[in-house]
Amino acid sequence: MGLTGAARLAGVMGWPVAHSLSPRLHGLWLDRYGIDGAYVPLAVHPDRFAEAFRGLVALGFRGANVTIPHKEQAFALCDRLTGRARAIGAVNTLVIGEDGLVTGDNTDAFGFIENLRTDAQATGAFEGPALVLGAGGASRAVVHGLLAEGVPEVRLANRTRARSETLAEVFGQCVRVVDWPVPHAACADVRLAVNTTSLGLGGGDMAPLLDVLPALPAEALVTDIVYKPRITPFLLAARARGHRIVDGLGMLLHQARPGFEAWFGTAPEVTADIRAAILSDLGETSA
Ligand code: ATR
Repeated sequence: MGLTGAARLAGVMGWPVAHSLSPRLHGLWLDRYGIDGAYVPLAVHPDRFAEAFRGLVALGFRGANVTIPHKEQAFALCDRLTGRARAIGAVNTLVIGEDGLVTGDNTDAFGFIENLRTDAQATGAFEGPALVLGAGGASRAVVHGLLAEGVPEVRLANRTRARSETLAEVFGQCVRVVDWPVPHAACADVRLAVNTTSLGLGGGDMAPLLDVLPALPAEALVTDIVYKPRITPFLLAARARGHRIVDGLGMLLHQARPGFEAWFGTAPEVTADIRAAILSDLGETSA
């Protein structure tokens, strides 16, 4: 539908931003719910982020998503932070109030958990120890989400051990650092294995990742936060071994829900046709 002068505005700030799927996703929802609003890509150079951040407020935007490389700068600039943004140490969603104050939220943990909660494949995945591979920014959101969901223990393995130790210090005793490559004994009773390393994208030495699979119990669920390729080499190998798998696209779709609701006033749903439309943008099918 066309915009009126009263249209609500939001967007995504990134550098680069051209690859972002968010404008398409929010655009599909705006059409679906017949909302007088727009969500636009905002290519913002890191040197001009603070300026752009204040510009959004001056322009009357309802808010924005923030993506690479701006998540930490956004964290520092917000007037208020939600508890989960504080815990994760980064911001991916800005909500601008009528008073012009900016609240920084982080919806990545929410997206990760909702993706599993809404997938029948994932039944029981939170009811035992989880193995998280990788200790970067994405891992921090995943660990926060798992602990908030009541997972009793998170075993954290990362090539650079110091990074997993830092996360364990931040999150406390339910997080246990394990070696990389992961000792098989640390996999024995795992209910959920999550790859948050960029090895999902392909390239790099995949062996330490793939070596986890034979040590997992048959009923363990395996997931990856990378969604392009939709079925990563890790998921492909897990599926070949008979594991239930959940791909990472749902995390992207679900993390967008809280922002859309805050800016446009309607709680959007992740439906099969929305997922199919985004998959087709990625050049993927759901097979
Ligand atoms: P993100 O915010 O997406 O998590 P990041 O902070 O750059 O990105 O983290 C990337 C993760 O992938 C890290 O856990 C990184 O391990 P290191 O901390 O040792 O760098 C992991 N990673 C990247 N390339 C890897 C490789 N070839 N082998 C193992 N781990 C790798």
